[in-house]
Amino acid sequence: MGRGHRGRGQTPIGMTIPAKEEMNMKIAVIYLTKTGHSRKIANAIAGELNIHAEDISMNPGIADVDILYIVGGIYGGKSDPIMIEYIKGIDSTMVKKAVLLTSCVSKKFKQDEVREILRRKNIEVSSEEFVCQGGLGFIGRKHPNSSDLENAIAFVKGGQTP
Ligand SMILES: Cc1cc2nc3c(=O)[nH]c(=O)nc-3n(C[C@H](O)[C@H](O)[C@H](O)COP(=O)(O)O)c2cc1C
Repeated sequence: MGRGHRGRGQTPIGMTIPAKEEMNMKIAVIYLTKTGHSRKIANAIAGELNIHAEDISMNPGIADVDILYIVGGIYGGKSDPIMIEYIKGIDSTMVKKAVLLTSCVSKKFKQDEVREILRRKNIEVSSEEFVCQGGLGFIGRKHPNSSDLENAIAFVKGGQTP
């Protein structure tokens, strides 16, 4: 079964995902990846937060999350449709605030559609978005490197919350 068919319905939305209680806040990290870069970024920041990054293709349930870090790549200038479908399933009772981290080879694109969907759902989204150098073929093929991952961690630790 393809990735697009695996998600919805398998894990009920509302299940609490592993998260850290820090300053009375529940934090979660989710990602979607085609070539592994977003997973690397998500794992780096989740490790720093002492939580597990959840793969959106496994349709993780979300409940009562104060800050949701969403990590995703750009394909043809856009987010993956599976990412968009998942984000459409989130509402403001599940997530208070979101922060976007984007992996992109040109560094010219952001997760604009994700941001707009969340905004329309009255979920606060940090105006700051971390755009990480991605790789495609020979372009940027060593990215994300350790310095990129350190920068992603610094972004998160820097309190880049909405
Ligand atoms: C099918 C495909 C299409 C892509 N299209 C773009 C694009 O339009 N603009 C861009 O800057 N990068 C593009 N990229 C590069 C990805 O954004 C980059 O490799 C990113 O790191 C992928 O993240 P991921 O490894 O989490 O999937 C594309 C990559 C793939 C595989």
